[in-house]
Amino acid sequence: KKKVILDVDTGSDDAIAIMLAMLSPEIEVQAICTCSGNVDIGHTTDNTLRLLSRMGRNIPVYRGLPEPLVKKLHNERSVTKKLEAVIDGKVARMHDDQLNLPDSIYREQEIPAVFYYKEALTNAEDPLNIITTGPLSNLATVLSLWPDLAGRIGSLTIMGGGHKIYNNNYAEGNFWHDPEAAQIVLNSGIVPTLVPLDATHQAIITSDEIEVLRSQGNFCSEFAAGLLKQRMKLHTANQPLHLPDSATMHDVVAVAAFLDPEVLMDVRDVRCAIGFTGSAEGHCAIDRRESREKPNCRFAMSADRERFVKRFLETFAKAKDIQ
Ligand code: BDR
Ligand code: CA
Repeated sequence: KKKVILDVDTGSDDAIAIMLAMLSPEIEVQAICTCSGNVDIGHTTDNTLRLLSRMGRNIPVYRGLPEPLVKKLHNERSVTKKLEAVIDGKVARMHDDQLNLPDSIYREQEIPAVFYYKEALTNAEDPLNIITTGPLSNLATVLSLWPDLAGRIGSLTIMGGGHKIYNNNYAEGNFWHDPEAAQIVLNSGIVPTLVPLDATHQAIITSDEIEVLRSQGNFCSEFAAGLLKQRMKLHTANQPLHLPDSATMHDVVAVAAFLDPEVLMDVRDVRCAIGFTGSAEGHCAIDRRESREKPNCRFAMSADRERFVKRFLETFAKAKDIQ
């Protein structure tokens, strides 16, 4: 089994990504670190603990940084407002801060995520795999304080960035929330795989497939189907997709890409730079000129929707023991 640390800002698609990781027999989720993103760190940590508790899986959860490295917090201003949409004649809002799950019986760990990373990366027998589905504040801090630890990261898969597609001004949300952190990670020498909006807007799930998921009759499938239906209404109203009646599952694609790299298509070795100010805030500029400088990431321009959805549905269908 491959050991994985997840770094999340749970969050509806983060929640489904966590479930996919936990239900996949090929990986062992060693720990989950939380970060501030869509909603504040208190909520992302609490949502993560609630989900694990409902699943009956006591995986250690480490609370991450409460704020982006340089910018001020902006959860309320940025996302909640953006996800207001008029549906059936009424204003609807995405409540990403409320997963509507019972209180958790688990507690978060005492040490903060950044110190956990130091300990885990230093002591691991083999280099560790990390999948991030939120802003990169935690990892950027770790790599700034202890740059040598970059060599202890076996693979890094990041849901973030967008070349032709944006969802927050001229940027993708996770990079927009903490642009400096994204740049620090890209400068670290790790060469992560980026799963940007260009890929996640291909790997979408249709309304019919969501119903197949729902009919699988276990907690994970039904819960994910409910979240996806909610995403379908609100996100599609904000950003139309190439297939009607479908939903994006950004963070889930990152986990699937780690499990099966063929889920990603048209993956290019490129050098990517992040904007910090004005309308370039969080914008991801790609330099495609040959051999000017070494590539700093592998950037997926597209994804194999059918392959992704098949794996996703098959994995959730096996979650029968969680009712
Ligand atoms: C990213 O931002 C959040 O809305 C999602 O959870 C995902 O991680 C997409 O831009
Ligand atoms: Ca996320």
